Order: sequence, then C-alpha cells, then structure tokens
Amino acid sequence: MKQIYIETFGCQMNKADSEHMLGLLNEIDYKLTENIDKADLVIFNTCTIREAANHRFYSQLGIAGKKKKQNPDLLIGVAGCLAQDKRKWLQSNFPYVDIVFGTNNIHKLPELIQKAEAGKKTCEIEEELPFELPELPVIRQTKVTAWVNVILGCNFNCTYCIVPSVRGREKSRTPEVILKEVQRLASEGFKEVTLLGQNVTAYGYDISSNYSKEKANFGYIPEDPEYSLAKLLKYIHDIEGIERIRFLTGHPFHVTDELIDTIAELPKACEYFHIPMQSGDDTVLKRMARIYSVDKYKKMVEKIRSKIPDAAITSDFIAGFPGETQEQFLNTVKAVQEIEFDACNTAAYSPRPDTPSVMWENQISEEEKNEHLRYLNSVVNEIMEKKNKKLLNTLQEVLVEDVSQTNKNRLMGRTRKNTLVNYDVAGANCNKLMGKIVNVKITRANPWSLNGELTIAN
Ligand code: SAH
Ligand code: SF4
Ligand code: F3S
Repeated sequence: MKQIYIETFGCQMNKADSEHMLGLLNEIDYKLTENIDKADLVIFNTCTIREAANHRFYSQLGIAGKKKKQNPDLLIGVAGCLAQDKRKWLQSNFPYVDIVFGTNNIHKLPELIQKAEAGKKTCEIEEELPFELPELPVIRQTKVTAWVNVILGCNFNCTYCIVPSVRGREKSRTPEVILKEVQRLASEGFKEVTLLGQNVTAYGYDISSNYSKEKANFGYIPEDPEYSLAKLLKYIHDIEGIERIRFLTGHPFHVTDELIDTIAELPKACEYFHIPMQSGDDTVLKRMARIYSVDKYKKMVEKIRSKIPDAAITSDFIAGFPGETQEQFLNTVKAVQEIEFDACNTAAYSPRPDTPSVMWENQISEEEKNEHLRYLNSVVNEIMEKKNKKLLNTLQEVLVEDVSQTNKNRLMGRTRKNTLVNYDVAGANCNKLMGKIVNVKITRANPWSLNGELTIAN
C-alpha cells in the first residue's frame, strides 16, 4: 500500500476537493499519511487568491523538492487554483513536479497518477467543468460536520478577483445528487452540513428551465426559478439525523426575501450569514464591480435582523484597493462599526494577474495598505471581543466536533453562529460526546473564539 501526503491551501472549496482526491486515491490503494517523510506521493492543493498564498505554497514545494533529491521515487503533484492558472510556468520552473492538474478534472487524478508512476510527467488542465458533473468518491477528514459542494464557479466579475478565471462559470449540482450525499452523511452519523459554493446564493439558477445563458452575467436572477438555495435548504431540512445546515459564501445581490424567510423558518438552518461587503464606500464598491451600494447592503442587514434578531452576519474586507483614499478607507471602518459584524476576514489588496484592477495606475503602496489593514483589524477585533464578552457566563448551544489531540478532557465545537468554542469537560468520556449538542457555560471571551466548561454528572 502506498502513502499520500496532501497539503491544502485556501478556502473550503479546496478542502472539499482534497477530500475527494483522497477518495479517488483510495481507489488506487493510496492511504493518507500525516508524515511527509513516509509519503510516496505529495500533493499540494493550491490557492492563488493573493500573492501571499502563492508564496506559502512555493516554500512548501521547495521542501518537497529537497525530499525528492534524497528519494527520486517520490512523486509530486500540484493541484488547485494556482495550477489551473499557471500550469506552464509551474512546469518550466519546477521540473521536479510530476503532475499538474486543475480544478476541473479532479476525477482524472487516478489516471494521471498511474501515468506518473510509469515515469511519464503529466499536466492536464481543462478550461471548463465536464458537462455532466461526475460524482466523486470522498474520504472526509471530519466526523461530525461535512462540506457538500452544491455550486461550482462564479459568474461575478469583481475587478480584483482571480476566482472566476480559475473556477469558471457557475454550475449547480442537482438537488437529487445533493440529497443523496446528505442522506449518506446522515446515515454515517454526520450532524452538520455546510453547503459550499464561491457564490452559493446563486444555487440552482443555472439548472432552472427559465435560466437565460445570455443574461446570466453577474447580477442575474431568473424569474421564478424552480431551484434556489432556499428550496434546497428546505429539502435538506427533512433529512433525519442532520441537525444543522449552513452555507458559504453568499453574495449580497442574491440574498432574497425567500432565503431570509426560509432561514427564519427552518430550525435546523443556522442563523449565520457570511455575506462579504468588501468595502464600506460606494465609489470603491462601484470600482470593484460589486453591484450594490452601502445603503443596499445595510438594508439587507436590517431585513435579516428584523426577521432573525439574533443572526450572525460576517464579512470579508479588502484594504488598499487601487485608488482608495483615506476617506474611502474610513468609510469602511465606519460601516464595520455601524453594522457591528460578528466576524470579519480582512486582507490587503493583492494584485492578481489578468484581473482588471491589476492594470490600474493608482495602486496603493504596501506600507499604506498594511497600515490600513492593521487599523481595520484592531477595529474588527474590538467589536468581536465586545460581542463575545456579552456571552460570558451564558449557556451556549455547541455541537461537539472534536476532542483535543493534547488534552483528552478538552473538546471543541461551534455555536449555531459559527463561533469556535473550546471547553473542558469534567468526569465524562469525551468520545461519547462527539456529535452531541451540549450546553457550554462560557468562561472566557477572545475575539475569535470562546472558552467554556461543561459539567456532566457521571
Ligand atoms: N465569493 C466570495 C469570496 C471569494 S474570495 C465573495 O464574493 O465574497 C475570498 C475573499 O478573498 C474575498 O471575499 C475577498 O475579500 C478576498 N480577495 C479576493 N481577491 C483578493 C485580492 N486580489 N486581494 C485581496 N483580497 C482578495
Ligand atoms: Fe471573486 Fe467576486 Fe466571484 Fe466572490 S463574487 S468569487 S469576490 S468574483
Ligand atoms: Fe483560493 Fe481557489 Fe478558494 S483561489 S480562495 S482556493 S477558489
């Protein structure tokens, strides 16, 4: 039996893809190892959302390259978004890489590996997803919560973003195959599913009969579609054994009344909305091609909060978009303070090849971008800590996801609003609690997580 070491960079979509790669590799007798020195095959599933993601990968690839010098039989594969984008460059600059394959042909992995095993270097990148999406085997790295791809690709054209060019146009899986997958998960004891897509709130439109391919650029919702994320949530809600349903990532344009009402209605749908705003300034939003204004975004937040008062709303923000003035940046800070997001991921703008904004002349200096980013982070952290502090001494409903590797009396899980909670358990067999929903008393609040304790009688 051969061993595979896999390192995954980037978003949940990549993490889900890696689990499918493990499923495919299992069929040709590769088993996962956590130790790169024992590996016969190393795969890097790459991300290229920002230059820093590329650099993290290059340094790991360098380490694998050195290992290959000691063990020439070691096979090295590069998958994911950077491979999709830079195949030729990778092949010519890293001749020790054996396999380069993209995000659209993961199903071909066993064939490519077998060719490489026979000594033939391979590179296979498809520009488009196959017409009929293949159902891939999977080996999950989690026991209680699972990712389920529901829509691939993104039809938006945000001027900073490389995703549409590497992940292609939106393509939904049918509700039938999704439901089959979730039913299987329920029968295997999984309790929570996160429905995944780069633009998950567009789920179902492209497979609805009144979808117009001509109109289907960004900012399009077909009239009265047969399929939508809201409808999918309702179907999944009926599956016995699944206790929580989430989705990731949404776009404000597609947050419909139907979606908000459905989440308000369905007890298993978590009141958690990750709907990135990106900037709190109208001029910047326009230049980013986000197709909403600050006012529109705020109205969406109001609507969500009026129907689901306790909803968590989280966002991503970019600091230092080309041409962003001090005043425009401060409008973002103001929006963060006014809306009081439950969490925000932030990043300095990173110019990406072949995106419109990389060509613009008004790029902001690294120094200024980083200064703005630091300030924005301090504001975000303050709000998150303040919000989390309100939870001190309260009981929170937590789904037990895992036991700590280092302390068998410590468990981790998440609240319905997706806040990470680490908690100690007195006098219980932790493994027995896996997959259970428990009440945890919060004893410490950090900006990004909570600590708590659970006391069990016997
Ligand atoms: N589809 C999601 C996000 C996908 S990418 C959405 O529209 O919100 C994840 C995050 O990376 C984005 O929300 C954005 O904040 C950030 N990002 C994307 N391109 C970037 C770039 N060129 N520089 C810095 N951050 C970027
Ligand atoms: Fe990128 Fe915009 Fe699509 Fe999100 S919606 S993946 S930011 S192009
Ligand atoms: Fe990165 Fe690709 Fe996800 S670029 S953020 S891994 S879609």
